[in-house]
Amino acid sequence: MVNDKTHFGFESVNKNLKAKKVKSVFESVATRYDLMNSLMSGGLHKIWKRYFTQILTIKNNAKILDLASGTGDVCIELSNQNKGFRLFHTDINIKMLEQGKIKLIDHGKIIPSIVCDAEKIPFPSNYFDCITIAFGLRNVTNKEKALSEMYRVLSPGGKLVILEFSKIWSPLSKIYDGFSFNILPKLGKIFAKDEKSYQYLVESIRMHPDQKTLRAMMQNKGFDNTSFLNLSGGIVAIHQGYKF
Ligand SMILES: C[S@@+](CC[C@H](N)C(=O)[O-])C[C@H]1O[C@@H](n2cnc3c(N)ncnc32)[C@H](O)[C@@H]1O
Repeated sequence: MVNDKTHFGFESVNKNLKAKKVKSVFESVATRYDLMNSLMSGGLHKIWKRYFTQILTIKNNAKILDLASGTGDVCIELSNQNKGFRLFHTDINIKMLEQGKIKLIDHGKIIPSIVCDAEKIPFPSNYFDCITIAFGLRNVTNKEKALSEMYRVLSPGGKLVILEFSKIWSPLSKIYDGFSFNILPKLGKIFAKDEKSYQYLVESIRMHPDQKTLRAMMQNKGFDNTSFLNLSGGIVAIHQGYKF
């Protein structure tokens, strides 16, 4: 029997409902997204993203697809490296893309912004030198399908780099859970007038595959030389894999 269920945070939902629910989360938080990220992580998200973009080691003028770009931090970081990267700012959610576009323009960045579902990437095969996706994969309904699509549009020798919440080092998990479940939804309630979306955020982190599972998923889709690197005790991890 086909399993048509998936999770939306801790809730079990039909697969065709998850995308709608994720859409409404990001529509609701779009205008407060950056502020909330800074409040919730104490500014750490900027450091994680900067590090993520600095360890990419890709050639000058590389063609880079940033998936689930939202408000565009990764594109801005990559553009600031002045390596002539040809960047694509993409997201499934128009409101998030709009917020990103405003920010890109404020930073003087002329980068194309394109509506793009990571499960159905509107680009030809073997097209990109690199794909980045930061804090996006967790929100995708069918991660296997998205990873296959990423593999397809990467050119041989190309690299996928994922920044995502992951499994924290176990001695820290109690304090992390206490902070996440008790404080974050309350911050959402006060500053974004939306407690539920931040409850989803916390739950979705717990439901996301851990480091080894995600690496195995990448390998199953054909990625080679896969690796992961924990940051901040595994609160987040950077996964990398190549298409040869
Ligand atoms: C937590 S935000 C991350 C935004 C940005 N990358 C960052 O690091 O700040 C997650 C983003 O994933 C997008 N998203 C969710 N499902 C998606 C999908 N199937 N394809 C592309 N983007 C998706 C959401 O619209 C949202 O903008």
